[in-house]
Amino acid sequence: MRVGVLTGGGDCPGLNAVIRGVVRKGVQEYGHDFVGFRDGWRGPLENDTVRLDIPAVRGILPRGGTILGSSRTNPLKVSDGIRRIKDNLAKQEIQALIAIGGEDTLGVAARLSDEYGMPCVGVPKTIDNDLSATDYTFGFDTAVNIATEAIDRLHTTAESHMRVLVVEVMGRHAGWIALHSGLAGGANVILIPEQRFDVDQVCEWVTSRFRSAYAPIVVVAEGAMPKDGEMVLKDDSRDSFGHVRLSGVGEWLAKQIEKRTGKEARTTVLGHVQRGGTPSAFDRWLATRFGLHAVDCVHEGDFGRMVALRGTDIVRVPLTEATARLKTVDPRLYQEAGVFFG
Ligand code: F6P
Repeated sequence: MRVGVLTGGGDCPGLNAVIRGVVRKGVQEYGHDFVGFRDGWRGPLENDTVRLDIPAVRGILPRGGTILGSSRTNPLKVSDGIRRIKDNLAKQEIQALIAIGGEDTLGVAARLSDEYGMPCVGVPKTIDNDLSATDYTFGFDTAVNIATEAIDRLHTTAESHMRVLVVEVMGRHAGWIALHSGLAGGANVILIPEQRFDVDQVCEWVTSRFRSAYAPIVVVAEGAMPKDGEMVLKDDSRDSFGHVRLSGVGEWLAKQIEKRTGKEARTTVLGHVQRGGTPSAFDRWLATRFGLHAVDCVHEGDFGRMVALRGTDIVRVPLTEATARLKTVDPRLYQEAGVFFG
């Protein structure tokens, strides 16, 4: 069988581990051939391919990013996109396609499979961990480790200067990175997109922390918003590609804290550092297993499926389920963390 592989959406540590797992098992155990498509759905749209054999995947397990490149190209929004993809897959004699991506990439795979009969298998990825069909996505653990290390480091400088340190982490719609790194790093306030925050309450927690002679660390997810809606997004809140940019909440909050508490505050925006570099051992393990199971689906002709983690098992779910519901932070988990606030 000749199998196409692509990685779409924002990159994420562990993508290369998936690709390696797919190719190693697919070639060695099943004797399949692989073709890499460059830059997500742009590859099959423009027939842009890259060699994908055993030598091509040698040494990539610990490498961040993706050897295939990535983009947010959506063929459903490109005129004649579906026909072009069908033609190019036929030209390449592709009999199955493994799409590794988040909500958008897998949403396209689900429609191609469901509505156009293309044999697709999906592998979920996102550092945000917000796909409901799987317990965890790879990339999340690495991002949490990076954010936790940053918080550890910020504690010491905050203490030296007795300042408030606001740390803005990724998470536009879900606060998983904020919650996990905030708990692991001993933050005094954690703010997530799922629950609007009250600036006065944040200032109270900050002040009470100073009263016990410690400097507070506030972890805020980039998508968190204040209750009163007084936060004004920066003028550049939409980038030149039209993506909404909500970054700015960390800076805004630090200014509010300074104004209302009289304490000096600084902001650190972790940004894409959370997505770069080598994957953690957990993410390599999960990504590799996803790759091995995705190629099993292909081999068995079980298309329209996505691999997912349930407990310690890798299961298969309909691709359409992959994007059905965003997995947001359970209010009970957020409440549980609240014991450390202030
Ligand atoms: O979806 C993952 C994610 O890392 C979000 O947490 C973040 O808001 C976004 O991607 C950033 O996207 P970009 O790389 O396009 O700036």
